[in-house]
Amino acid sequence: MTETKALLRALAGEVLPTPPIWMMRQAGRYLPEYRETRAQAGDFLSLCYAPDLAAEVTLQPIRRYGFDAAILFADILLLPQALGAKLWFEPGEGPRLDPVTTAEELAALRPTAAIHDTLGPVYDTLQILTRELPAETALIGFAGAPWTVATYMIAGRGTPDQGPAHKLRVEDEATFGGIIERLTEATVEYLSAQVEAGAEVVKLFDSWAGSLEGDSFERWSLAPMREITAALKARHPGLPVIAFPRGAGTRFEGAHEAIGADCIALDDGVTADWAAAHVQPAGCVQGNLASRHMVTGGEALVDETKAIVKAFSKGPHIFNLGHGITPDADPENVALMIETIRGTA
Ligand code: CP3
Repeated sequence: MTETKALLRALAGEVLPTPPIWMMRQAGRYLPEYRETRAQAGDFLSLCYAPDLAAEVTLQPIRRYGFDAAILFADILLLPQALGAKLWFEPGEGPRLDPVTTAEELAALRPTAAIHDTLGPVYDTLQILTRELPAETALIGFAGAPWTVATYMIAGRGTPDQGPAHKLRVEDEATFGGIIERLTEATVEYLSAQVEAGAEVVKLFDSWAGSLEGDSFERWSLAPMREITAALKARHPGLPVIAFPRGAGTRFEGAHEAIGADCIALDDGVTADWAAAHVQPAGCVQGNLASRHMVTGGEALVDETKAIVKAFSKGPHIFNLGHGITPDADPENVALMIETIRGTA
């Protein structure tokens, strides 16, 4: 059967006249309908674990804008929670976890097979979405890459420089490596279950890849993502994988090959012209409009959107932001971005 979903065609390497479009955090606080459903759920984690409501917020931006892909509504920190690390969100601040920094704490985590006891509702959300999404909309599952998830597990919270994780990596490599290994193994099982529940594409978010320097970038960002990608493709032949080593800079070049991914997601730390010349020859790229344009709008949004579409027009491209849309974004600017790309502006 010929593939009809534009996102899957781009991931297979096709050059389309108009790139497929979706946005990181497209279901989020900038949308009034999201805020309403989130209030109904009570809090963010309750929303993640309520399949009907999580499916509802996933569908909201699809109904409003007709994006080419829906991304499962969940969070990268549900996996460490499923492994036994206590997780909560401090209102107005962000995530908190019981830190894992010693061999004893690592050994006390639950076995990988037990993650499905906690994550069952996430798979239920995907099953609802496979029934409810329009036929042309692709369904993306996701997980955090081991390094990024480890930065939160080790610090017990988000950190500006990932200091605690770097410290453990240097001072107790055995425990640090053990955490990465546990996360790598569990991520394969988690994403594999997402695919069985209906995810057609998976994306690995390595949001803090850029803070790894020298050999440690290859060892702790690229290598675990490569291992996960290879294991998933062995189990699910043909499964497309998007990898996002955020902050990689010039190291985006070669990332397709190093990870074995079908698509490399770019942040806005590199220009589209540079990435078209250095990254896109190796395969599909995703990105990379600065998310501030969703706040500021106007001519700059239109000009920059057009420049990105043009720069990537000779190879496979999925249009996206360089990072998640922020809560202060104006929903009208999202519509303007989409109209500009689809040529109806
Ligand atoms: O993209 C999507 O819409 C899919 C759902 C999704 C969320 N988080 C929902 C969410 C995805 C793919 C993520 C990934 C995620 N979560 C990352 C990697 C991507 C990135 O942004 O760099 C990270 C580092 C996290 C951890 C996390 N979750 C933090 C640090 C925070 C608090 C910061 C914030 O934005 O408030 C979250 C909360 C979170 N995850 C929200 C959403 C919609 C906001 C929750 C709310 O409604 O209050």
